[in-house]
Amino acid sequence: MSKPEPIAGENSLIVVPDILSGSDSFLRAKILIVAQERSTVQLLERILQRVRIQNFRSTTDSPAALSLFREFWPDLVLIDWMMADVNGRPMVEQLRAMIPDGAFVPIVVLLWDATSEARQLALASGANELISKPIDACEVVLRIANMARVRLAYLRLEEQKRALQGTVLQRTLDLNRALEALRASEESVAQSERLSAVGTMVSGIAHDFNNALTLIMGSGEILLTDAEHEHLTKENTIQMLKDILTAARGAAELVSDLRKFSKAGDTADAQQPVDLNSLVKRAIALSKTKWDSQAFGEGSQIRVAVDLQEIPVIQGNAVRLRDAITNLIFNAVDAMPNGGTLTLRTRTKDQVILVEVADTGIGMTEEVRRSCFDPFFTTKGQKGTGLGLAMVYGIVRHHSGTIDIATEPGKGTTFILKLPIPPAA
Ligand SMILES: Nc1ncnc2c1ncn2[C@@H]1O[C@H](COP(=O)(O)OP(=O)(O)O)[C@@H](O)[C@H]1O
Ligand SMILES: [Mg+2]
Repeated sequence: MSKPEPIAGENSLIVVPDILSGSDSFLRAKILIVAQERSTVQLLERILQRVRIQNFRSTTDSPAALSLFREFWPDLVLIDWMMADVNGRPMVEQLRAMIPDGAFVPIVVLLWDATSEARQLALASGANELISKPIDACEVVLRIANMARVRLAYLRLEEQKRALQGTVLQRTLDLNRALEALRASEESVAQSERLSAVGTMVSGIAHDFNNALTLIMGSGEILLTDAEHEHLTKENTIQMLKDILTAARGAAELVSDLRKFSKAGDTADAQQPVDLNSLVKRAIALSKTKWDSQAFGEGSQIRVAVDLQEIPVIQGNAVRLRDAITNLIFNAVDAMPNGGTLTLRTRTKDQVILVEVADTGIGMTEEVRRSCFDPFFTTKGQKGTGLGLAMVYGIVRHHSGTIDIATEPGKGTTFILKLPIPPAA
């Protein structure tokens, strides 16, 4: 191979400063020059200095180029293809191999042999840009400027990516923290909703309890008077004692239901086999006082229809699931101020267990339907807490279930709980 020809166009450097703005950030790029000929290195250094690029290193020793690369970590490599009388292919390939995957460090190759074969070989080895002889100083600067600007854009992108990753990480942490807070508040919502449900039930139960006491005391007084006046007949006495016992047993049942309900919080995480059908029956029995007294008080009638099909036993928390169903019943009754039909249905479909609580009440507008699970959302003013459905949602989700709502204003609403069938079932 012949020696490189003298460089043409050195005078054209005069125009370079006019083309490049003095504040162009590429002027700060770190450039590594690798060439075998001292004269080539000097020429390139002169060109860079002329446009005030100061941050460069050079070497004429190709093995040293690799360690210099590692130490200097340049933004751009300017490399003479003609190294030690062989083409620069191994050099370019070795440099390429040192650049981590995904990183962008442009390699600009000076090509003395500008045949298309040589150009293809250089590009295939990993060159990003070619400069061929005779060297035009202005072209050298412009091509370096182009590549360096791409490199700087890449660095800015990397910086933004890192910042974004930081933001995403921070957001994820924030979200996790919010999620934890939400879980904690769900627990306390469940607790306070249970308390308010207990409150509702207590007034219903007090009413029933009072009825039982009235009956017991009335019968007792009659028995006492009859006994004092020696009017006791065996028939009368037996009937009255039976009435007293029936009323007392009813009252005892109420007390035991109330106790179970208020103890629900103690067993918040208990997992046990749950028979949803008997749970639905218990929920109806527990809420009976509410819809009975409401219907009685307002002269309207609530009919209860039950359609419980055979469904598998699930693992879960019976008390909390019953709370959920009780809450849906309360809401259904509230939605039927003029009476109607409350329907409870259980069945399986497509590998899920469906528990439906349906009413023929006022239904929901789209807006209410969208917000009804939000804690504290209520359309009942002072009478509502807005916590019932939030609690139901939490409980159902805790059992890996979902809730659908079918509703139409004026027609009624159906809440459909979907619970997964356990694998063993
Ligand atoms: N069965 C239903 N029919 C019509 N609207 C309902 C029904 N269930 C719930 N809603 C609506 O969702 C709201 C939120 O219910 P909930 O969370 O139980 O709170 P609250 O019953 O205390 O208002 C209710 O105020 C009501 O507007
Ligand atoms: Mg409610």
